[in-house]
Amino acid sequence: MRALPLLLLVLSAACGPSSSVDEGLGVIQGIDTSENGVTAFVRSGQYASWLAEPSVHETRAPHGSKVRVFFNDVVARSLRDGNATHPVGSILVKELFEDDGKTLRGHALDVKVAEGPGKDTWIFYEGFGPDYTRNYYGRGHSTCHGCHSDGKDFVTSPLP
Ligand code: HEC
Repeated sequence: MRALPLLLLVLSAACGPSSSVDEGLGVIQGIDTSENGVTAFVRSGQYASWLAEPSVHETRAPHGSKVRVFFNDVVARSLRDGNATHPVGSILVKELFEDDGKTLRGHALDVKVAEGPGKDTWIFYEGFGPDYTRNYYGRGHSTCHGCHSDGKDFVTSPLP
């Protein structure tokens, strides 16, 4: 039964605010890129003034629900220029809605943290309400980069 205390330790580390992770890349384009910082940013809705898809639409990903994507100035300019890789400071936010297309259930956010190609040049984040405690967060996150490698430098949505 030696494994039990270890299991409890692992479980408690994986849950709750103590699990907050930080890739140590500081503030990029005004956003604290730690897990807590990204959570605070998406929950604040400060991306609402960014270029956005005109309306909520069905996701093209296989897991259902409805979405709306927002583009900061840096990535909007880069997509317009047709760049093969986007500059550091490129940020995209995806709002995730319930089937009603109105009730917000969470957010995804990608931020470019290093120049050049490859999954490790992005931090990938996804979190869900009400608490945003069990988030996906990390540079080149293994859950995220697969589908996103279909896009151009991991961006799959066209500019609206
Ligand atoms: C099963 C495939 C798939 C996986 C896995 C996936 N995505 Fe996506 N993602 C998509 C598709 C398709 C879109 C385009 C918008 C839509 O239709 O939902 C998208 C859009 C996004 C966007 C908006 C910018 C863009 O590239 O279009 C962000 C941000 C995002 N995803 C983050 C994430 C994060 C973070 C993860 C991992 C937790 C993740 N995605 C995992 C398929 C996927």
